[in-house]
Amino acid sequence: MIRLDKWLSEMTDGSRSEVKKWIKQGRVSIDGAVIRVPEIKVNPKRECVYLDNEAVLYQKFVYYMLNKPAGVVSATTDKEHQTVVDLLYPVARKDIFPVGRLDIDTEGLLLLTNDGALAHNLLSPRKHVEKTYLVHIDGTLTAEDKQCLEEGMDIGDEKLTLPAVVESAEDFGLPAGEGICITIREGRYHQIKRMFGKLGKTVVYLKRLRMGKLWLDESLEPGQYRELTAEELEMLKVQQGK
Ligand code: URA
Repeated sequence: MIRLDKWLSEMTDGSRSEVKKWIKQGRVSIDGAVIRVPEIKVNPKRECVYLDNEAVLYQKFVYYMLNKPAGVVSATTDKEHQTVVDLLYPVARKDIFPVGRLDIDTEGLLLLTNDGALAHNLLSPRKHVEKTYLVHIDGTLTAEDKQCLEEGMDIGDEKLTLPAVVESAEDFGLPAGEGICITIREGRYHQIKRMFGKLGKTVVYLKRLRMGKLWLDESLEPGQYRELTAEELEMLKVQQGK
């Protein structure tokens, strides 16, 4: 059982005091009956809460896949730029955050959730969750470059990078000449750009295609998002339980 004002403040963008006002104003009903008592307890299994006649479902955890566009920061708030959480408006709840970060100019797969345990496990350095990126560089990648990336590199950190897997974009069903696909098992700061930088190559375009077993839904245009399917969520949970 959940208090009505808690339900509404967790499931909408209203603060606790705002939702109390909505309730007192008669904007909230439970199964057809207007309720003016914020403290009333509601059973999410049996009862349905409405705000201005629109159902407000109670979901403890939510999971969204976003195709992050360039120009947006992977943060919950930012003074200067639009954030990935802003893109989820109006579904965004106050407790949603991005699972890890992509640079402002990086596009592609970003998971947003309020499930801290899942996020923690996906980001834990010990779990070595694989991430695949599509990379465009200025110039061409030589066989020696590929070997360096695949053997592990000194990019100025305490440890060498873990061996990466380098494939052509065609191996991933992308058009010929579309670029390189690289899979890494870490998430160091600017890792891909630093690895290619060390080889004297500048990354001119970067897009994440995969995180663990979760692939970007290519039908999502940059800036679009959707909820994870039950199968995708299950795969992620199995993955991170390893
Ligand atoms: N590596 C980078 O350099 N940037 C990203 O956004 C992600 C991985």
